[in-house]
Parts: sequence; C-alpha cells; structure tokens
Amino acid sequence: MSEKKRVAIIGSGPSGMAQLRAFESAERQGVDIPELVCFEKQSDWGGQWNYSWRTGLDEYGEPVHSSMYRNLWSNGPKEGLEFADYSFDEHFGRPISSYPPREVLWDYIAGRLKHSDVRKYVRFTTVVRLVTFDESTQLFTVTSEHLPSGETTTETFDHVVVASGHFSFPFTPEVPGIETFTGFITHAHDFRGAESLADKDVLVVGSSYSAEDIGSQAYKMGARSVTASYRTAPMGYAWPDGFEERHSVERFEGNTAFFRDGTSKHIDALIFCTGYVHKYPFLPKDLAVSGPNTLYPEHLYRGVVWDGNPALFYVGAQDQWFTFNMFDTQAWYVRDLILGRSQMPDAEERAASMAQWQSRYAATPTNSADQIRYQADYVRDLMDATDYPEFDIDEVSDTFIRWSKDKRENILGYRDICYRSVMTGTIAAPHHTPWLEELDDSLERYLSPGNPSREPAGTQA
Ligand SMILES: Cc1cc2nc3c(=O)[nH]c(=O)nc-3n(C[C@H](O)[C@H](O)[C@H](O)COP(=O)(O)OP(=O)(O)OC[C@H]3O[C@@H](n4cnc5c(N)ncnc54)[C@H](O)[C@@H]3O)c2cc1C
Ligand SMILES: NC(=O)c1ccc[n+]([C@@H]2O[C@H](COP(=O)([O-])OP(=O)(O)OC[C@H]3O[C@@H](n4cnc5c(N)ncnc54)[C@H](OP(=O)(O)O)[C@@H]3O)[C@@H](O)[C@H]2O)c1
Repeated sequence: MSEKKRVAIIGSGPSGMAQLRAFESAERQGVDIPELVCFEKQSDWGGQWNYSWRTGLDEYGEPVHSSMYRNLWSNGPKEGLEFADYSFDEHFGRPISSYPPREVLWDYIAGRLKHSDVRKYVRFTTVVRLVTFDESTQLFTVTSEHLPSGETTTETFDHVVVASGHFSFPFTPEVPGIETFTGFITHAHDFRGAESLADKDVLVVGSSYSAEDIGSQAYKMGARSVTASYRTAPMGYAWPDGFEERHSVERFEGNTAFFRDGTSKHIDALIFCTGYVHKYPFLPKDLAVSGPNTLYPEHLYRGVVWDGNPALFYVGAQDQWFTFNMFDTQAWYVRDLILGRSQMPDAEERAASMAQWQSRYAATPTNSADQIRYQADYVRDLMDATDYPEFDIDEVSDTFIRWSKDKRENILGYRDICYRSVMTGTIAAPHHTPWLEELDDSLERYLSPGNPSREPAGTQA
C-alpha cells in the first residue's frame, strides 16, 4: 500500500470488535493494514453486552444503547456463537454451561481481544454524528463528538463500516385507550429487571424472544400472572400455570386490557416486546439500511456491502440466529474487500447475487429449522470466501435445531441442557444451579463452585 487507506468503524460491539479482530489477524500474517479508527459512544466495548442500569438518555444526553437487563442469560446455546479462533475452553480454562449469563459472555468477547493491542484504535465516549460521501474525492467525511468535552472532529475516510447494531431503537405501537392505563408501562429496550414485577399482573406484548424471556423473568421473579399477547401467532410453549397467551390487545380501559378473542384482564405492568427499528441517525437516507428485521436486508450485497456505494459496509445488520461467528465471517470478508484480497463484483453481479438470496429467502418456510439452515448457508458462503478458520457449520445448525426443540419441550428448563462444542469437542458442564432457581447472574457467582452436587439436566452430545 503506497498511501495508507483510512477505515472508520462505527461501534465496538461484537460486530465492530470482529472487524478489529479481522484486521489484526491479517496484520499478524504480515499484511500492511489500513489506518483504523473505531468510534464508540459508550465508555467501554461490548455493545449490547455492556450493561447499563440507565434507561432513556445517558449522562451525556445520548440515547442509551443497550437493551439488556440485569438477569439476562444467553437465549441460544453458546456452542452456536463460539468464535472459531478463540474457544470458550481457551478463555475459561474449563468447561462451562451452554447458556451463560450476560457478564460471562461479555468477558468472553472482550477476552479474545485482550491479548492484542486493537483497543488503541477505539475512541471511546465518541459518537458519530454525521457521515457523508463526496463523489469528487470518493471519500467519506465523518463528523464525531467526544461526549465528555463536546469537541467535534471532522475527518475523511476511504471506507466506513457500520457496526452500530439494530436492537436499540424501540418500536412501540399505539393501542387505543392506552392513555387511560395507570400502571407501569415500558418497552423491552428500557426493561432492566423483573424483581419489581413480583405479585403483579404482567402483560408482555409480542411473541418473539423479548416477550418469551421477559415473560419468563417476570414468572421467575414471582409475578402473580403473566399474559403474552401475540399479533400473528402464539409462541405456543407449554407455559406453567399463571402464564398464558392471548390474542392482540384491542384496547385499554384504565387498567383493563381487552383482547381480540373477546376476553379482558386486569393488568398492573405492561411491557412492549414489539421489536426494534433500523435507525442510523448519522447516515443520510441513501446510505442507510431500512426495513424490517430480516435475515437478508435489502441492498446489502452478501449481507455486508451497501449496493448504492460499495465503499460502505455493514456488519451485523441482519436478524440473528448466528451471532458472534457470523459477525466474524462478515468482518473477514469486508476486510478482504478493503485490502483488495477479494474482488468487488460489478453492480450487475451484485444485483444477481442479491436477487438469488432474496428469492431463496422469500421461499424459505418460516419454521426455525429452515431459517437456521438459510443463515448457515449464508455464513458458509462468507467463510468459504475468506481464511476465517473453518468449522462444521452443519453441526452448529443441528445444535440450533436441537435448541428449538429443547425449548419446545421445556421453555423454563432448556437453559439447563448441555451441548457439544463444534470448535473443541468439549461437552458443556452443567451450571451448579438450575436457571429457574438462579437469582444471581454475576460472573463471580457463575464461576464459583455453587452447589456442585447438581446432576446435569441432559446432554445433547
Ligand atoms: C435484549 C437482547 C438480548 C440479546 N441476547 C442475545 C443472546 O443471548 N445471544 C446472542 O448471541 N445474541 C443476543 N442478542 C443479539 C445481539 O444483537 C448480538 O449478540 C450483538 O450484540 C450484536 O452486535 P453488534 O456489534 O452488531 O451490535 P451492538 O451490540 O448493538 O453494538 C453496537 C455498538 O455501536 C455503538 N454505537 C451505536 N451508534 C453509535 C454512534 N453513532 N457512534 C458511535 N458508536 C455507536 C453502540 O454504543 C454499541 O457499542 C441480544 C440482543 C438484545 C437486544
Ligand atoms: N438473551 C435473551 O434472552 C434475549 C432476550 C430478549 C431479546 N433477545 C434478542 O433480542 C433481539 C430482538 O428480539 P425481540 O423479541 O425484541 O424483537 P423481534 O424478534 O423483532 O420480535 C418483535 C415482536 O414484536 C411483535 N410486534 C411487532 N409489532 C407489533 C404490533 N404492532 N403489535 C403486536 N406485536 C407486534 C412481532 O410480532 P409478529 O410476529 O406479529 O411480527 C414480534 O413478535 C433478538 O436478537 C433476540 O435474540 C435475547
């Protein structure tokens, strides 16, 4: 490289960290890498996994990013998200359970980068305010603000990688009469813990992961009743007594919810688990992903290249069965395009590829097994295009498919099941306390001997 390219990475969550790791891995092979600047509005990395007790606006008046709550545990087996170049065994030095709590996964993500010096590329508490593209220079201009000082900086880059996540701007629908509801109302984004829901009649609106898990948290913490209201289809799990599903809420009259099936119920606490919108306040419309939360967002060639301007990339913009190892394969591919190791196809070839993936997606049944295999094929395509360490993606898909089945069989007990790591062959060790009884989600408690007499709930080897 005669003059170093400059690459801006927006966000240092798992996707931004994957991008840093991808460049670091090339540098270790002796490759001359571009100048990197990673902008991160929070004071630490880890994105969603960097828990904040705050809701609404943070200490600088910025929207709080993380939607995670105090007692959030992984909702998919860790064997599905394990990095191919840094195993759980390497990090923890011993087998751990398949569904660790948030802090444990945060420790793992950060652990991979601790032995490198990539943190030097991250400008913490620095928010990106605006990105524009100049056709004449073919450069991006990025304006950022250092939040503690209020200093703004404007600089140019050859490439921008958007890794700012898409589960931070809540979508909250209108419900007739909700203004007469006098109980507690929030969205999953602002939910921080279910302890205050003890002895309350709780309504979660939605039928996806947030509804399922926040409803379960409320049950676990002693809610008097939990009602989940669905729009399209019920979750359909064998919920315990005191937990039920009903059709959509049509209206509220005070604290009474009236459902579409003609029933009504007194509600004390209402939590909208109605998902998130793609929002990139720093991007002009012609550079921003929009639309629903889907496995193949529109205008993203191979899920990462912005078709309208192929110098702009996104990592982690799709809905996610696969997470950390998918972000890695995306970041490796983006790196290779930037380094010129992979050739950027022309507009026609990109359009044909996107059309093919889109039409396959449209024809994919909505059941979880087919959706998982679709995303597995997508990840495999990127893995094959790069030198990301090969792993048995079919076995990971099988693990996810077993996970869906295990949830069907025991929605409040599936987190006690142990799976086999595709990366190391290690069988997970059961956590010392069943998930339903474990009230302390700290790393310290998790790694402590706890109650070692416990027998495994089941092993899916
Ligand atoms: C409640 C919840 C629970 C989840 N649980 C799981 C789970 O159990 N297992 C799993 O695998 N996945 C889970 N996920 C999915 C999660 O999205 C991914 O694991 C992962 O965090 C996505 O990484 P990311 O880097 O793409 O985005 P994020 O983690 O959202 O990180 C984006 C980063 O960009 C920064 N940023 C945003 N805007 C700007 C800006 N303008 N300037 C500078 N920085 C900016 C943010 O501060 C943040 O650090 C969960 C998601 C949610 C919302
Ligand atoms: N680790 C954990 O335990 C955990 C917990 C929570 C979330 N997460 C993660 O967080 C991410 C986001 O999950 P999510 O559940 O918040 O969002 P989501 O998967 O996008 O689901 C959104 C839900 O909102 C419903 N909805 C949307 N608009 C509605 C309306 N107008 N009225 C009624 N319902 C409406 C949708 O119903 P339709 O089906 O009708 O569209 C869907 O059920 C996922 O990656 C998930 O894995 C993980």
